[in-house]
Amino acid sequence: MKLEFDAHCKEIENFVPQNAQELEAFRLRFLGKKGLIPALFAAFKEVPNEEKKAYGLSINHLKTMAESVVEKFAADFSTAIVQSGEDLSRPAENFMPGALHPITLVRNEIVRIFERMGFTVAEGPEMEDDWHNFSALNFPADHPARDMQDTFFLSKNPDWALRTHTSSVQVRTMESQQPPIRIIAPGRVFRNESISSRSHCVFHQVEGLYIDKNVSFADLKQTLLEFAKAFFGDKTDIRLRPSYFPFTEPSAEVDIWWGLENEVDYRMTKGTGWLEIMGCGMVDPAVLQASGIDPEMYSGYAFGMGIERIAMQRFQIPDIRAFYENDVRFLRTFQGVL
Ligand code: PHE
Repeated sequence: MKLEFDAHCKEIENFVPQNAQELEAFRLRFLGKKGLIPALFAAFKEVPNEEKKAYGLSINHLKTMAESVVEKFAADFSTAIVQSGEDLSRPAENFMPGALHPITLVRNEIVRIFERMGFTVAEGPEMEDDWHNFSALNFPADHPARDMQDTFFLSKNPDWALRTHTSSVQVRTMESQQPPIRIIAPGRVFRNESISSRSHCVFHQVEGLYIDKNVSFADLKQTLLEFAKAFFGDKTDIRLRPSYFPFTEPSAEVDIWWGLENEVDYRMTKGTGWLEIMGCGMVDPAVLQASGIDPEMYSGYAFGMGIERIAMQRFQIPDIRAFYENDVRFLRTFQGVL
């Protein structure tokens, strides 16, 4: 018995762990529930009475020694961890995850809905020539319809401008593809307008174009209703008002019900409760012709919606300028939204 104690004593005295794992193995070997020292304590009742005193002293001694070794090295290792900057028990750093911009969120959702209906995404340049932004879309030179869209012309060469709408992508697509065509074109557009809570000089649109045999206005209405239900919910109300665009005939403007309860509602909807979110219509045969598609054979519809308006409705944002100010307090509210 004495020999056994001495051997344990030696081992404890000489023990120098290299790392926290070795120390833990040591602690388990001696002090753990199934370790040596608890086993020695358990054997106490079998020890003959005359040896009980010496035995008790010895195991208590072993226990204190082992405990002090564990305590001493545990302190060493925990300071080492702090010094190397790896204290895993410290509270986590308060880091700020990024968020998708609300315009991106809404654009992605619009694109997803139309993709489900079989549309694919098309793109075009933000700097456009007169042909794609105006002439091919049936805006004759010097026609007053051009004033509908205040244009940023590029210096010195009036043939180039920042596109005023994504309808230019309609022309580019029809020039390079024959029907059936079914595309949507999300993108940034520019208009020389004064900035207010309702409008900005840089904003985003999603254009839609469908050209095939026998496409009718009923197809257009149904597609837009499907979209409105998918985006705003099954009970959404929309209304179509007759309108004018040079490149569609007939043309309409589409409103969705925003509500009319408070001062913001009045300002957003000019007192009507309805928010205009897009223009649409049947593609004018002159546009098909100009883009190289036979209007005798094919017909189609087009629509163009403003992403900002829709995002304002979706997130109840009363001022369009909020999208461009990059105020972190605003952007942070979209963390975790997908
Ligand atoms: N391009 C038009 C605008 O920006 C919207 C539109 C697109 C209208 C397609 C009809 C068809 O106002």
